[in-house]
Amino acid sequence: MILLDIKNLTLEIDISSGWVKALDKINMVIHEGQIHALVGESGSGKSLIVKAIVGALPNRWRITADRMTWKGKNLLTMSPKARRKLIRKDISVIFQNPLESLDPSLTLGQQIKEMLPSNQFTKTWFWQNNKEKHALAVKLLHKVGIKDHQQCLTSYPHQITNDVVQKFMVAMALASEPKLIIADDPTRGMEITSKTQILKLLARVNQVKSLSVMFVSHDLLAISSMASYVTVLYCGQTVESGELKQLRKRAFHPYTQALLDSAPSFRKDLPPKSPLRSLDGSIPTLHHLPIGCRLGPRCPRARKECVATPQIRRVHTHFYTCHFPLHWEAK
Ligand SMILES: Nc1ncnc2c1ncn2[C@@H]1O[C@H](COP(=O)(O)OP(=O)(O)OP(=O)(O)O)[C@@H](O)[C@H]1O
Ligand code: SF4
Ligand SMILES: [Mg+2]
Repeated sequence: MILLDIKNLTLEIDISSGWVKALDKINMVIHEGQIHALVGESGSGKSLIVKAIVGALPNRWRITADRMTWKGKNLLTMSPKARRKLIRKDISVIFQNPLESLDPSLTLGQQIKEMLPSNQFTKTWFWQNNKEKHALAVKLLHKVGIKDHQQCLTSYPHQITNDVVQKFMVAMALASEPKLIIADDPTRGMEITSKTQILKLLARVNQVKSLSVMFVSHDLLAISSMASYVTVLYCGQTVESGELKQLRKRAFHPYTQALLDSAPSFRKDLPPKSPLRSLDGSIPTLHHLPIGCRLGPRCPRARKECVATPQIRRVHTHFYTCHFPLHWEAK
C-alpha cells in the first residue's frame, strides 16, 4: 500500500535576487513498511522536502505539485487544521535540530507524556492516567537506550547532552504510534555507539511494527545498513531512485555514481590507498542555479543538450533523470 505519493513537487522561495525553485519537480513514493532513504549532500534540499511534507514551511513560499497525497488524501488542498490532525496521528518527525523542536520551558517528561495517545490508557481517572503515562514514558526511554530515565524525564532540553536529546526525539516519535517516522539526519554528529543504537532501533521498529521510515541522511554507510529503497537528491532535483541493491550495482545517474565512489567503506572492491573519485566543484547556492540539469557545471558527461532539464525515465522500479546516463546499453 502506498502511504506517501509525491509527484512534481516544486517549492519557490524568495531570496534577495528574487523567486527561485529551491525544489524542482521532486518525485517520491513511500510504501507501507518500507525504509526509504533520502540522500544528497548538504544543501540539496532534504530538510525542505521534510518540511513540505508536514506543512512546516513559511506561508509566503509557493508550493505546487501534480500530486502530494497521504493514503490517497490530498495534503495540499486539505485545511491546515485537518492536515495538522492527520500528520499528528500518522506521521512523526525527528527534525534535524532537535533542540529547536522541543519546548525549552517544559521538562522532557512533560513533553513526552503529552505525545502519548489516550487510547494507550486503560484507567479512567487522571491520577491513575498519570501513573500509566509515567510507566509508558519510562518504557519508551529504555527502548531507545536511555538508562537514566529519572534524570532525563526531570530535565529541561538544554540540560542534557546532544546524544541523549537525539535518542529522546526517537522516543517522542515512537510515543504516538505513527505509521511513518521521518528521521531528518538523526545520527549526525553522534558518537559511533549511539549512532549504531539509533539505526538498529529504527530498523527494529520497522520490522516488528511494520512502521515505515523515511531516513534522511548524507551518510551512505548509515543508509546502506538499513534502507531498501533510495531517492537521490541533487540541488533540489531528484536525480535517481530505486532499490538500493540496483543502484549500487548499476547507477544510471553520474551524481549517484559519484556519491557511491566517494564513500570508501561503501566500495568493497577498493584496493588500499586508492584515490577517491569525486566531482569537482561544489553544490551551487540558490543564487546561482544552473539552467536545465543542475549537475551540468560539475558533470563529466555534460553536453550542450543538458541545458534542457532531462525528463524522468524509468527502467522497472528504477527512475533517473539524465540525458546521457551511465550504462547506456542497459536502458
Ligand atoms: N529559510 C530559508 N531561507 C532561504 N533559503 C533556505 C532556507 N532554508 C533552506 N534554504 C536553502 O535551501 C537549500 C536546501 O536547504 P536544506 O536545508 O533543505 O538542505 P539539506 O539537504 O537539508 O542540507 P543539510 O544536509 O545540510 O541538512 C539550501 O541552499 C539552503 O540554503
Ligand atoms: S543530464 Fe547531462 S549534465 Fe545532467 S547528469 Fe546527465 S549528462 Fe550530466
Ligand atoms: Mg537538512
